[in-house]
Amino acid sequence: MMIDPVCGMVVSSEDYPTKHKNVLYAFCSDLCKQSFLQHPDIYIDMQISRIQDRNKELELVRSETIQCLSRAAEYKDNETGEHIARMARHCKRLAMIYGLDMRHVQLIEMASPMHDIGKIGIPGYILLKEGPLDANERCVMQQHPEIGAKIIGENLQSELMNMASSISLSHHEKWDGTGYPKGLKGELIPIQGRIVGICDVFDALISKRPYKPAWPIDKIKNLISQQTGKHFDPILATLFLENFADFLSIYNCCNKA
Ligand SMILES: [Fe+2]
Ligand SMILES: [Fe+2]
Repeated sequence: MMIDPVCGMVVSSEDYPTKHKNVLYAFCSDLCKQSFLQHPDIYIDMQISRIQDRNKELELVRSETIQCLSRAAEYKDNETGEHIARMARHCKRLAMIYGLDMRHVQLIEMASPMHDIGKIGIPGYILLKEGPLDANERCVMQQHPEIGAKIIGENLQSELMNMASSISLSHHEKWDGTGYPKGLKGELIPIQGRIVGICDVFDALISKRPYKPAWPIDKIKNLISQQTGKHFDPILATLFLENFADFLSIYNCCNKA
């Protein structure tokens, strides 16, 4: 499939083909082909700006699709839209402080809002229950990481959706192996799951929810330090505490609740 550089129509490489400076072009008609040959540079510039516009549109569709999927999960849950927005920024910040390369940081930033997409598959009476869950309900709730990975899909081709699947599957694993769904330990938990895991706990504790007040800062810091090497990757937990002010300001500036 190719794009006619004169009129922008989709054509096949066998339609009125011609080579210009070793690049193959195809056209919807002989008229377009002749116009191109008279002023090739003008039409090549048009083609480049058409491709740039299309890339911008794809980028917009991609980010709006992620937001839409994330909101679908949040719509059923007690979470707020601000939580989803803050998660992207907390996770980006922690991934940068940890020293991941920029590509990895961007993928985590874009995919982290989808961490709880699997909650779409959890019955509302469990998701919205105000008291503690019983053993059966907890068991159903703990299926959301795997449901999320199924919703995101298998044999994925895009790095972004592979990242989203990995985050969904691993954000409730714990460093000491007591998490779910697989009970993975230490570095067997993908770094993106470890990053999302700590940011998710922080953001849940600092937020006021219908079923709980916001925790005071000191109590949150104490919990993170107590859980260093238990729930949380010790390096990430230490970095989180050392840079606590950054996460607090992300919370304050993205929190409209
Ligand atoms: Fe979750
Ligand atoms: Fe969350």
